[in-house]
Amino acid sequence: MRTPAFGWRDYWRMLTSGRPWLPWRYFREAHAFDLRRGTDTHARIPKADFGAEPPGFAEGTFYMASWTSEIDWAFRETRTLLGEDFDAFAFVDVGCGKGKAVLRWTELRAAAGSAQRVHGLDYHAPLVAIARRNHEKLFGNPGFLSAEGAETFDFAPLGGRVLCYLYNPFGAGLMRRFLTRLRELDVVLIYNHPAEEATLREMGYVALRTKRGDCPNAHTVIYANRRQPAN
Ligand SMILES: C[S@@+](CC[C@H](N)C(=O)[O-])C[C@H]1O[C@@H](n2cnc3c(N)ncnc32)[C@H](O)[C@@H]1O
Repeated sequence: MRTPAFGWRDYWRMLTSGRPWLPWRYFREAHAFDLRRGTDTHARIPKADFGAEPPGFAEGTFYMASWTSEIDWAFRETRTLLGEDFDAFAFVDVGCGKGKAVLRWTELRAAAGSAQRVHGLDYHAPLVAIARRNHEKLFGNPGFLSAEGAETFDFAPLGGRVLCYLYNPFGAGLMRRFLTRLRELDVVLIYNHPAEEATLREMGYVALRTKRGDCPNAHTVIYANRRQPAN
């Protein structure tokens, strides 16, 4: 995998992209996370730089880290939503990339005194290697981060309840196959940049909370397959 350097040119590209607010937003929501912690999550990896192509590559998106405030919002909302059941759900970032959501979720979980299990999987092994290094740096261990695809990761050992985190990892066909695999489980699903919302609804998922921002990265919906919609 090629890891392109990140620098002022990238900020210039953002500034001249027609969204003058983007450089500051990017700094606050992505770059600052790494500067504070010494981790490597914020620089995106286009698909052309992935190198070896894992199975299902054509249906996958490129790597880009979730914005910090989206993860924070999702944590607060799912804690409120699930109440005392929260810890019984295993958190799984499906398409974890360099591990940003896993790292932030683990910090928030510790601050809240929660014992929830936290996992991440990505079909591209070099990204998972970076995620493990980041986890080791912050928490002293490589975490539960697997080089596995959404179609092969074994959810059975996690018990019947999963809290999936997806930041627009793949298209409609794979989303349908992935949700079919989870059919027997009690699923709460955090969907950041929910490009395949229609597929979730078609598969019987109900939106319980919605945060609408001014761009796709700031749009997150929390769905579930076995819960009632919020009033
Ligand atoms: C937009 S990035 C999200 C990264 C991370 N979840 C975050 O929020 O910071 C999407 C990720 O999904 C991964 N991905 C795409 N298709 C996948 C698949 N079939 N199985 C597992 N991971 C996949 C890509 O490698 C990429 O790292």
